[in-house]
This record gives sequence, structure tokens and C-alpha cells, in this order.
Amino acid sequence: MTATSHFDQSDLVANKNLIHFNNAGASLMPKTVLQTQIEHLTLEASIGGYEAANEKSAQIEAVYQSVATLINCQAEEVALVENATIAWMSAFYAIDFQSGDRILTAEAEYASNFLAYLQLKREKGVIIDVIPSNAQGEICCQSLEAMIDDKVKLISITHVPTNGGLVNPAEAVGAIAKKHRILYLLDACQSVGQMPVDVTAIGCDILTATSRKYLRGPRGAGFLYVSNKVVDNLHPAMIDLRAAKWTELDQYQLQPGARRFENWENNYAALLGMGCAIDYALQIGLQQIAERTFELARYSREQLSLLESVQVYDIGSQQCAIVTFASSKIAAAELVKALKSYRINVSCSSPSSTLLDATRRQIPDLVRASVHYFNDKSQVDHLLVALQKILSAEHLQTEQS
Ligand SMILES: Cc1ncc(COP(=O)(O)O)c(C=O)c1O
Repeated sequence: MTATSHFDQSDLVANKNLIHFNNAGASLMPKTVLQTQIEHLTLEASIGGYEAANEKSAQIEAVYQSVATLINCQAEEVALVENATIAWMSAFYAIDFQSGDRILTAEAEYASNFLAYLQLKREKGVIIDVIPSNAQGEICCQSLEAMIDDKVKLISITHVPTNGGLVNPAEAVGAIAKKHRILYLLDACQSVGQMPVDVTAIGCDILTATSRKYLRGPRGAGFLYVSNKVVDNLHPAMIDLRAAKWTELDQYQLQPGARRFENWENNYAALLGMGCAIDYALQIGLQQIAERTFELARYSREQLSLLESVQVYDIGSQQCAIVTFASSKIAAAELVKALKSYRINVSCSSPSSTLLDATRRQIPDLVRASVHYFNDKSQVDHLLVALQKILSAEHLQTEQS
């Protein structure tokens, strides 16, 4: 299988006329990922769910290794969970925060993560400090270094935010965290699958990701990486009989490694589908995927900027496959709806999903066009033509009359 054989529509299930630019929402699964799940669901319906999991135990176990290969860690450092949020929350709420502990985060932080910081501020009196961005819009590492003192308990940032093409300098942040021996949590939900993400190179202690976005896996699956170096300092906030073993009437023992963050019941079809999606991405090559998708996004931004009334909002010295823009003529939500009638899927990103960044940059609702390697320039051209028609005076008049 050559890498370029995937850079077309041949692995898609159907809908040749649909242009899917919502890959940061949920991408399109390749046929083989769908097939893997159908096979497992069929097996469950034929012989029973527990029996099916037993029969596929080797394949289920292999998913841990697939994740480990993808992000360059050990299989025992991986927990398979329902989504990135559960992965992130499980690790975050396992940290033994005390009043006065500082959490350093970034301006483009994801709403759910920031809400958790706010909750711990309310309940435990932690201090949330936001690392300023540099002129390019990414985390300013000099500022981060200057903010560190012995009260910093955690550096917690988002690699690629939900609201644009920014790629935060995860590796440079990792070097600072390592130098000062500070726990480092990386939300890689939007980066995994669209670029190489190597936990050893990055130096993060904890990383979280989801299956359905750039990995092209099913919904309802995700994973958590917790380094062997820190896992024994983390006690899950909630445990069940999979996370721990009830050893004596009044005692229990946590699972070794990251599996202490799992719970017993699982959608094994989805987990197997995620494993298949990871193997598929690995076969193509994450570097090749990054080159292809970043170039397509660059082309999209360049062309969009030429449209009158359209402003592109992506920032950062390196920009990935997520393209965001708004028009001064039509609100983003309306544009998303109008593009749907041209069979083009894009999404709307609202300020509340990244409130710090949106407030600082005064960002309105944005149209998010997140491209993948199975998209191509002709599809971007279709988007531009559709946008031109939608934004044209005739269209606006028809809409208003
Ligand atoms: C940056 C970021 N982190 C976390 C999440 C949550 O992922 P999940 O929906 O898989 O829990 C998202 C979802 O959009 C996201 O954009």
C-alpha cells in the first residue's frame, strides 16, 4: 500500500458528492474501520457480548500497542476510554491539588478543561494563571519560564485548539516542564491523527485524545496516556472493579499503569474500530498526513483571504489542518447552513468554546473548515465558489426578500 493511494476518496463508504470539511468535528471513517466494527457487533449479536470480547481478546489487547506505537510510549502507559474528555478528567481529577497550587494554562485552552480549573479554584483554592501568547499567537515560552515558581503544580495546555489552526509549541513547553520537574498535561484531542505526536519527544506526562476526529475512528472512543514516571502519584477520583482489585474486606489495590483509569464496561466495537483507524493512519504515515493536510489548509486560507468580506482567523507560526474564517456580511451559523445546501460540511465555532482567546482577540462565531488528506484542492475550490455565490448581492437579496 503506498501512501498516495489514500489521498483520494476510494476508502470512503459513500457520498461521493459530499464535501466533508468537518474532520475536526468527526471525520469520515475508512471502510475498513467501519467493517471492523460491524464484524464485532455481528459477533456480539451472534455469540454474546462477553463471549465476543473473550474471542477477540488478543485484538483488543493489540489496540493498546497501536496507541503506544502511534504516540511512542509503552502499552501499559495507555488507558482506553470513551472520549478525550473522560481521559482528560480522569487524569486531572487524580492530581492531589492543595489550596494555593498554581495551574499554568494557555490562552487557547478548551472550555471543558478551563471549567475544571474553575471548579478546583472554587473547591480547593487553586490558582489559575494564563501563559501569555507571543506575537504569532502561540504560547510564549519565555513568559512560561518566567512564571514558574515552587507553587506551580501543573502545566496544562491544548496542543491544537478547537477554534483554529494554531499548533502550540508542545515540545518547548515539555522542555520547561522537565527542567522544573512540573507535571505536564497535554490535550492532544485535535492534533492526534493529523500530525506526528510523540510523547517522548514532547516530554508530557499525560496526554489525551479522541478517536473520531483526525484519526478517522468511530465516535465514543478515546485514549489516555499516563507516563510510568508519574502514574503511581495519581489516584483516580473514581474507581471500579476494573480500575482496582478488592483484595481484603477493607482494602484494594489499584491496577498497575494507566489502566487504573479505565472502567469495566466498554464498547469493544468502537475500541477495535479505533485500533483499526490508528493502524490505518500509521500505514499512511503521520508525517505524510501532516504535509498533505497542512498544505491543503494553507491553500484554503490563501484563497479565502482573497474573498471580499471574508477574514481568516488562524494564528501561530505553524498552522495545521483547521481553517477558520468569518464574513462581515453573513453570520457564521448562517454560512454553515447555506454551505450545507451545497453539500459542503463545515462547522461553527463559538467564542464560548475558547473564551479566553475569543475575548482577547475579539473573535466572533467562526466557520471552521477542517480538512483531511482525502480532501483535495478541487473541493476547496468548490467551497470558494459556493461562498462567493452565498455572499453575492443576489443571494443576500433573495434571502432578505
Ligand atoms: C481541544 C479539545 N479538547 C477536548 C475535546 C473533547 O473531546 P471529546 O469530545 O472526545 O471528549 C475537544 C472536542 O472538540 C477539543 O476540541
